[in-house]
Amino acid sequence: MVSLICTLHDHRDDVNWCVFSASLLATCSADKTIRVYSTRDFSELPFSPLSGHGYVVHCCSFSPCGQYLASCSTDATTVIWLMDSGEIEAVLEHPGRSPVRVCAFSPDSVHLVSGASDGTLALWDFTTRSLLRTGGVTDTTLVACSFSPCGQLFVSGSTYGDLRVWNLELRQLHAEKNAHDLGVTCCQFAPQMQKGSGGNVTEFRLASCGQDSLLKIWSISHMPSTGCKMQLLRTLTGQTAPVLSCSFSADGQMLVSGSVDKSITVYEASQGTLLYTLSQHERYVTACAFSPTAPLIATGSMDKSVNVWRVEDGCGTLEAKFLPGEEAASSAGRREGEKMAGHSRLMASDWSEDDVSSWLREEGLDVLVDVFKANNIDGLELLALNKDILTTDLKIESVGLRGKLIRKIEELKMESMCTGVPDEYLCPITHELMRDPVIAADGYSYECEAIQSWIRTKNRSSPMTNLPLQTTLLTPNHTLKMAISRWKTSH
Ligand SMILES: *[C@@H]1O[C@H](CO)[C@@H](O)[C@H](O)[C@H]1NC(C)=O
Ligand SMILES: *[C@@H]1O[C@H](CO)[C@@H](O)[C@H](O)[C@H]1NC(C)=O
Ligand SMILES: *[C@@H]1O[C@H](CO)[C@@H](O)[C@H](O)[C@H]1NC(C)=O
Repeated sequence: MVSLICTLHDHRDDVNWCVFSASLLATCSADKTIRVYSTRDFSELPFSPLSGHGYVVHCCSFSPCGQYLASCSTDATTVIWLMDSGEIEAVLEHPGRSPVRVCAFSPDSVHLVSGASDGTLALWDFTTRSLLRTGGVTDTTLVACSFSPCGQLFVSGSTYGDLRVWNLELRQLHAEKNAHDLGVTCCQFAPQMQKGSGGNVTEFRLASCGQDSLLKIWSISHMPSTGCKMQLLRTLTGQTAPVLSCSFSADGQMLVSGSVDKSITVYEASQGTLLYTLSQHERYVTACAFSPTAPLIATGSMDKSVNVWRVEDGCGTLEAKFLPGEEAASSAGRREGEKMAGHSRLMASDWSEDDVSSWLREEGLDVLVDVFKANNIDGLELLALNKDILTTDLKIESVGLRGKLIRKIEELKMESMCTGVPDEYLCPITHELMRDPVIAADGYSYECEAIQSWIRTKNRSSPMTNLPLQTTLLTPNHTLKMAISRWKTSH
């Protein structure tokens, strides 16, 4: 489920871009300003709006730790803003003095790349704030740019319709000439490195969108010896008009896009399954972004508004991946003394040791907090507890206490289970919907993390048969994963 949690109406003209850091949301607009909000409660920071650009601000990008924001404008500059004070730290003048349409940081903060409407690319050394190299393509406007997770490559996209892969020497490693008919509008790498097929190959996922109304997912692999290969993996067609922006979630598993048809679509990225279509904006959706730390999406539009959405599925599995920022965001509004129910919005299998402690307290099992802490029992361990472990390992002598704890754990398992989930979609260890089912040597499928943890701590016996596992090899159960993904979509 995706719910709209707030609408920001501060810009006075088209919103062109939005981007999150761990704790902030920045939006930029044709009104020449950038606005910065705290993701705790989406209040605007005291120093916002940032004024300094002379014309339309097209794009903005946070440095990976969120200390700096780079913004670029038709005024031919990329401005570096300090995020603790809102002050301008540097103004980078684009070579050629043409409007700067896009800028992106490298994941290691060492480089910043900017692309302009005359087709020039500028690669900046961010440590010295100085121009390192210029390059680019002629007769086109650069509108899209993204650094790969390794920081050694980046991709540019232009109104000519091509996607090009560059290295830090600004040598073009690959050109995909007709990536999007009539023009590329945006591209973004997934933050993860994929496992390459050969030992020395690094492989990345790139999403791109364009005037052809398509969203595409590419695999880009790079081998120092043979160069760069780019392969189209999926074409997503959930929107009926040009797709203007796209963004991967922090775990690379979801992809959001905004379109001229005013809709926002959210896909499961590996299968390309359409999960949600959202409509709230009154005009073109020009911008979209996933938060790196919370299950939040921001979308910006030519209707001048920015919408913030919360993504959660029925079982809370998506939410479970986003603990830190999400916790901060949700607890901020809560007054002291109110019951902290932070853990209950996560899957129990994702609880930290502290979450387990607060659950014990809530259930009136305070006496167990210390022994659970001493034994490093997190959510996954909690769900795997049984009478034997309680007696022999945790030395809980009281029969009554053991019984109560076991009952509470059973209740917890029931609670976190979605009603009506087919049994085979639940992990036998955690009793929760599997995200990453793997087949163990006993032939049963388990949630990958759960069985790995089981194998590490439970003497390599099968959770189902109690017999020793012949090997610890785990093979992904793709069929099951797809079935679960389809089931989730239809619920
Ligand atoms: C990886 O690179 C090393 C050194 O460049 C080479 O000896 C080796 O054969 C390569 N392995 C593969 C799988 O390409
Ligand atoms: C994948 O999981 C399903 C459901 O548990 C099971 O029926 C199927 O046999 C598994 N696939 C393999 C290859 O074991
Ligand atoms: C672990 O398994 C081995 C053989 O599979 C057995 O000899 C040993 O006693 C087991 N240890 C525990 C703690 O169960």
